[in-house]
Amino acid sequence: MTALNLSDLEELARARLSTMAWDYYASGADDERCVVRNREGFERFPLYYRVLVDVATRDLSTTVLGQKIALPVMVAPTAFHKLAHPDGELASARAASEAGTIFTLSTLSNTAIEQVTAVASPVWFQLYVYKDRGATEALVRRVEAAGAKALVLTVDAPLLGRRERDVRNGFALPPGLRIENMHGAGYAEVPGARMESGLAAYFADLLDPSLTWDAIEWLRSLTSLPVLVKGIVRPDDAVRAVERGAAGIVVSNHGGRQLDASPATISVLPRIAEAVGGRAEILLDGGVRRGTDVVKALAFGAKAVLIGRPVLWGLAVGGQPGVAAVLDMLRRELDLAFALCGCADVSAVTPDLVRPID
Ligand code: FNR
Ligand code: LAC
Repeated sequence: MTALNLSDLEELARARLSTMAWDYYASGADDERCVVRNREGFERFPLYYRVLVDVATRDLSTTVLGQKIALPVMVAPTAFHKLAHPDGELASARAASEAGTIFTLSTLSNTAIEQVTAVASPVWFQLYVYKDRGATEALVRRVEAAGAKALVLTVDAPLLGRRERDVRNGFALPPGLRIENMHGAGYAEVPGARMESGLAAYFADLLDPSLTWDAIEWLRSLTSLPVLVKGIVRPDDAVRAVERGAAGIVVSNHGGRQLDASPATISVLPRIAEAVGGRAEILLDGGVRRGTDVVKALAFGAKAVLIGRPVLWGLAVGGQPGVAAVLDMLRRELDLAFALCGCADVSAVTPDLVRPID
């Protein structure tokens, strides 16, 4: 089968991966309703396209926190890329870099930050805060020294959501795979299946569920990197983040893997964008699978979107070229969507595309 779109690639990836890896990547929390809701959210909004606009040349580029990127699609942080391919995060980061966009490395990666920044740029780093604040502080300093350009603080996971597929499979990392960024601190090993899933046990043992808004100021005192807050679905939380000095907000529900009853991210984006009112940049993830989804997110006020699972599908199917294919599919779809919506560049992607004018 030749993959024409991301959902074709998803099927190819499913055939390649072990059940344990596929289920870990694909799963959502509980009944997995939020995974579906994120997708359905996009389908609720048609695009009121404009006609007779000169779209002979189109420019998909934009800027995020002052950084120019070739298209408004970035790579979301996802754990354990070596479950998909032996080249792991190096392959995905290289593909993102060559496509001209930002790669976000998870704290829980199978490759250390220094190795990733050696082969790719720009790289952002997603942070989980450990109960061991000293180890977290050391990690933040290390990430800045390694050349990461921003810190993405994930706030929707005080505990890991319950992914029942992982419980059934007794999720554990295969021998040899570790959390490389935490090697020095002694937190590199994910336990074997315990507390239903090895990863759930890792979270409960080591990550800090007592985190509050003060964490943003604490991080800002440790680093000069901009801090983004990821996992927000409420306007008041977005405003709190901005007041504490966040440079950006990632409207996200962790791809439906945390609170299954979370709203679809696209449906909460408009009010969050309104409440933030340009004081910080807004990004969105969750269920972005088509170029037209990107147009909708931009029209509702996001600067760019991030994709999580599709990158893992590309990686599983073809390593670095597979991830490149994912980004290229979205780039082509977005380019066509721009043309069909009457948008020559991102400045033309305005709210009237998603809100009909009488
Ligand atoms: C994630 N996500 C995630 N987020 C985060 O902040 N740190 C992490 O380590 C991970 N790990 C992770 C693993 C896997 C397998 C998935 C699917 C997701 C959430 C991720 O950043 C993003 O919010 C979602 O993946 C976006 O939804 P889609 O694009 O997967 O629908
Ligand atoms: C996940 C964690 C690692 O979603 O963020 O599996």
